[in-house]
Amino acid sequence: MQPVDLQTTRLTLRAPGPDDIEAIFEACQDPEIPRWTTVPSPYARSDAEEFVAKTATWWHDDAQYVWTIRLGSSFAGVIGLHEVTPRGSAEIGFWLSPDARGQRVLTEAGRAVIDFAFSPEIGMRRLSWRAVVGNVPSAKTARALGFRYEGTLRQALTSPRGRDDGWVAGLLAEDDRMPHPWPVLEG
Ligand SMILES: CC(C)(COP(=O)(O)OP(=O)(O)OC[C@H]1O[C@@H](n2cnc3c(N)ncnc32)[C@H](O)[C@@H]1OP(=O)(O)O)[C@@H](O)C(=O)NCCC(=O)NCCS
Repeated sequence: MQPVDLQTTRLTLRAPGPDDIEAIFEACQDPEIPRWTTVPSPYARSDAEEFVAKTATWWHDDAQYVWTIRLGSSFAGVIGLHEVTPRGSAEIGFWLSPDARGQRVLTEAGRAVIDFAFSPEIGMRRLSWRAVVGNVPSAKTARALGFRYEGTLRQALTSPRGRDDGWVAGLLAEDDRMPHPWPVLEG
């Protein structure tokens, strides 16, 4: 499909373009991003160039829907629906620049992406979320979005770092999207 822009109270989500390359390159120098995601480390400018080019193909092929997040006029991060299947499921993924964190930006962006996924036009039925065990900020964000904890998969996540245990959670189109208790976040 053609890329779809999303607007929220504070944020603009749009398909990545050449203007985003520098900001993506700079943000991915923060060690917290390669620590918890699959981005390469060290992260070169050519990695950002390739990523932006690939996102255009992914939109066209309905393989992944990826947006950059803008807070006002500033680049804030990236959010996407990955592993899109014709049967109505996808996996949400996200990261923010360090200076955009802690302001509920991802909660606001995530709600818009979930609305998009479950809209009648897109018609998804299930979204999944996975994170390396111990990524509490990401888990709390997924919980705030209404994802329900579904378990821990041993050595199930692969990245340039190797293998990691993974927390998994899911959100169905009919779920109420209220935060539910996650046993791994309690106490
Ligand atoms: C995960 C990430 C996107 C969160 O974005 P954010 O905009 O700061 O999150 P929000 O402000 O919307 O907060 C959402 C929830 O997470 C909690 N949270 C956010 N940062 C936190 C932190 N550093 N420690 C503990 N909790 C945190 C918030 O308190 C909130 O929980 P609550 O609703 O129970 O109060 C951001 O920390 C990030 O980019 N991390 C590095 C990359 C990454 O880990 N990506 C995810 C890979 S699975």
